[in-house]
Amino acid sequence: MSGGDKLDFEIRPNPAPVSAADRAALLANPGFGRVFTDHMVTIRYADGKGWYDARVEARAPIPMDPASAVLHYAQEIFEGLKAYQSVDGGVTLFRPEANAARFAASARRMAMPELPEQAFLESLEHLVGIDRDWIPSVEGGSLYLRPFMFASEVFLGVRPANEYLYVLIASPVGSYFSGGVQPVTVWVSPDYTRAAPGGTGAAKCGGNYAASLVAQAEAIEHGCDQVVFLDAVERRWVDELGGMNVFFVYDDGSLVTPPLTGTILPGITRESVLRLAERAGHTVAEQPVSFEQWQADAASGRLREVFACGTAAVITPIGEVRHPGGSFTVGDGGPGAVTMSVRQQLVDIQRGAADDEYGWVRRVR
Ligand code: PLP
Ligand code: COI
Repeated sequence: MSGGDKLDFEIRPNPAPVSAADRAALLANPGFGRVFTDHMVTIRYADGKGWYDARVEARAPIPMDPASAVLHYAQEIFEGLKAYQSVDGGVTLFRPEANAARFAASARRMAMPELPEQAFLESLEHLVGIDRDWIPSVEGGSLYLRPFMFASEVFLGVRPANEYLYVLIASPVGSYFSGGVQPVTVWVSPDYTRAAPGGTGAAKCGGNYAASLVAQAEAIEHGCDQVVFLDAVERRWVDELGGMNVFFVYDDGSLVTPPLTGTILPGITRESVLRLAERAGHTVAEQPVSFEQWQADAASGRLREVFACGTAAVITPIGEVRHPGGSFTVGDGGPGAVTMSVRQQLVDIQRGAADDEYGWVRRVR
């Protein structure tokens, strides 16, 4: 496939899907990323041939040669988005075109071929269509979709691979944090940074997450749910969390989030929150926030709320901040009114319960 050519997906339904009773048991309390559906999508790429061999088939292990390039130099990218059971019984995706665009941007940064938007969207529609019975109908449940792509060429030289495999899998999920929408506690990492200028911070590549795990483990040792990364140059400015962007809400009703300077992931939830908050009459700004200022504004009461946002986290209040010098609470430590109101607006749009005035919702069924 090259340019605008359309891929034909070969559909091979799973001959031994999970029984309805077993599926219902799994969907009762899926947690996050532990349960998987019956199918997956795969599309191959080779230099000179383009994208080919698109399939919807039974979810199964992927045979791999031990010299597959990804196993050595981590040429891998991924995305995360959700399919929702909408209030009218249909199924919706939230801004999947934005995920397609970010997947292409990540591919460019990692010297990988770009999967055309149409193929990305069709892969989602095929998988959600064939596995639609796996979408949890409980409040807060959704089908998390994980598109990813890796260098599958068998060679050990350090150069961009000539062959890639795109895969899409799906996982029914509940809340990312075990406490649901209860405020989380975050750990400000003193030692580890996530991304430096010129690095891969704005790309959704597996390596960024591998490098964050030790900092996340340190957060957990300190009784925290997530790590907050400061910038790599001055160790002063708040970048983002391990898997979420961050917003600050002040006593004048304004919202501030760190700007996209290339070291943080351009979150689709982040961008949506900026639009929704502005529509609701809040002043919004993309501005650097220093950790010192965060502490000072929490102490003075000027800072009322802080929240994390992302596909997995949706919008989750941050109640307490821990760091090597101590800890502090934000506001009264509970979920803030602005946080919960923006969350509700977002969730209502995602589930088709509110007007989709920005055209963010794509119906798949
Ligand atoms: N930042 C990081 C590091 C992430 O992994 C994610 C999740 O994808 C986000 C931010 C939020 O991005 P989005 O809102 O597009 O899910
Ligand atoms: C997402 O929100 O989709 C992510 O990839 C973040 C990760 C913490 C699951």
